[in-house]
Amino acid sequence: MARLDVTEIFHGITFPGHLHTQESLCYATDFKFQDADILIVTYPKSGTTWMQELITLVLCRGDPKISQTQPNWARAPWIEQYYCPNILKALKGPRLLTTHLPYKVLAPALQGSKAKVIYVARNPKDVIVSYYYFHKMANFLTDPGTFSEFLSSFLDGKVYYGSWFDHVKEWTNNERNNDHFLYITYEEMWEDLHGSLEKVSQFLQCPLLEHESASVKNNCSFNTMKDNCMVNYTLIPQEIMDHSKGRFMRKGQVGDWVNTFSKEQSHIFDVVYNSKMVDSMLTFVWERK
Ligand code: A3P
Repeated sequence: MARLDVTEIFHGITFPGHLHTQESLCYATDFKFQDADILIVTYPKSGTTWMQELITLVLCRGDPKISQTQPNWARAPWIEQYYCPNILKALKGPRLLTTHLPYKVLAPALQGSKAKVIYVARNPKDVIVSYYYFHKMANFLTDPGTFSEFLSSFLDGKVYYGSWFDHVKEWTNNERNNDHFLYITYEEMWEDLHGSLEKVSQFLQCPLLEHESASVKNNCSFNTMKDNCMVNYTLIPQEIMDHSKGRFMRKGQVGDWVNTFSKEQSHIFDVVYNSKMVDSMLTFVWERK
């Protein structure tokens, strides 16, 4: 099947041309944030869709109607993707927005804004594996080659959306002390969904009753989300995402990277990680031995 892997280059970073244009990327860098906006920020494959679902459900106080009837990209659009302005025209209430943009690209637009920013990070080894399998099924991304080739590109920051290291470090180093910024990890959500939900709902000043919280947790569990066509991307036609090659809701595990990385690849990764993250101001959960 033909691939749709056209690439846009913006600020030296590559973006899938299927979803991004120079105009859409400029629109994002000049985005007019409103104080009531909620912005989810992630490097790809870090739990974006999970956080979109959780916040949608929090804002609906656990009622799953919207999460079961509106695709995630229509209720939490990526501000850098071409369809965003049209979606925003129709959005009512506080706007839930999403971005994969690196800090240096989006910081000027966010300057002085009171929009709430939720940054989700994930163990980069799990990100790489998830990204690799996603490239295999997504025809709008380049063919990833072998895992070893993809790993090298990832370590060099030569993948779509740029370097994971720069993304995580720059967002967390620069924003971690800002009252409007919440940092959370995929691992934390996975180990303690209840605590993570409390953290997010408090941050959004939207405390939930017990039954509302139970409904949020149930509706954003991996098992529920994998069967919800509004978030599992099965609405996307086969020529864009080849569902015979894999599922978007693939495994949803923590530490699954061990099944793909060889010992040597893991060692190479660790060496690069230690040198690139030396100036990071946070200690990440996956760094704990
Ligand atoms: P895997 O490929 O490791 O399974 P993103 O939304 O940023 O693209 O991230 C996708 C990853 O998040 C996939 O990881 C997907 O399975 C996982 N994911 C999505 N919803 C999840 C959930 N409710 N629980 C656990 N993992 C989830």
